[in-house]
Amino acid sequence: MLKRILPFISAVAIAFLAITAVQAYEVPDKITIVRPAGNKKLNTWVKEVKFPHGFHAINVACKKCHHKESGKTLGEFVPCRECHVSDDPNDKSGFYRAWHSDGPPSCLGCHTQMRTKGGKNPVGCTTACHKPG
Ligand code: HEC
Ligand code: HEC
Ligand code: HEC
Repeated sequence: MLKRILPFISAVAIAFLAITAVQAYEVPDKITIVRPAGNKKLNTWVKEVKFPHGFHAINVACKKCHHKESGKTLGEFVPCRECHVSDDPNDKSGFYRAWHSDGPPSCLGCHTQMRTKGGKNPVGCTTACHKPG
């Protein structure tokens, strides 16, 4: 009897593991970075940014950007904008600095650093990120 039940139980266990693994690693390919409600633009020419997330997820370790991921939150990948809400450009946990501080995980910080090492990372405000139109 037990011999007949065991393969069934392990098949269910494998199916369950496969489902949880897929959920843990679902990685969006393209993301439009959305300004949190109530957050004011610092300049009129600032346009929303389209971010090739999948491309980065292949080339850069998740934790390098998702810097608040820990053993406890593993696989949650809380969006930056859930914490980086304030529109004060001097607030380290504000919206502006998440993308523009001097070093990674900010976009501009990482791109500027990689440029000094010969990377082709785009850095222009209106030519690379906030494209008009
Ligand atoms: C270069 C930086 C960077 C890397 C590397 C990166 N991400 Fe992200 N990820 C982001 C940004 C920015 C967002 C958008 C956050 C926002 O809109 O506030 C995001 C969003 C996400 C989301 C959507 C969260 C949601 O609920 O909207 C998931 C899931 C995610 N990333 C998983 C991953 C995984 C898994 C990896 C590694 C395989 C990874 N990311 C690598 C920067 C990165
Ligand atoms: C759970 C909340 C939370 C999430 C999610 C989060 N951050 Fe942060 N971040 C903070 C806090 C708080 C700080 C202030 C310094 C610290 O405590 O690490 C910070 C600091 C930073 C800094 C340094 C700013 C400076 O001026 O030195 C950057 C850059 C940054 N975060 C980018 C990101 C990016 C990009 C994402 C998403 C991929 C993200 N953060 C997700 C809370 C968060
Ligand atoms: C930790 C490092 C790192 C961070 C953070 C980062 N990038 Fe990048 N980014 C890269 C690398 C590496 C490349 C590839 C550069 C090359 O081709 O030489 C790249 C390339 C790009 C490209 C060009 C893609 C292409 O198809 O050539 C865009 C657009 C871009 N990043 C936008 C962003 C935005 C927007 C953010 C913030 C939300 C961001 N990046 C954050 C490392 C980073």
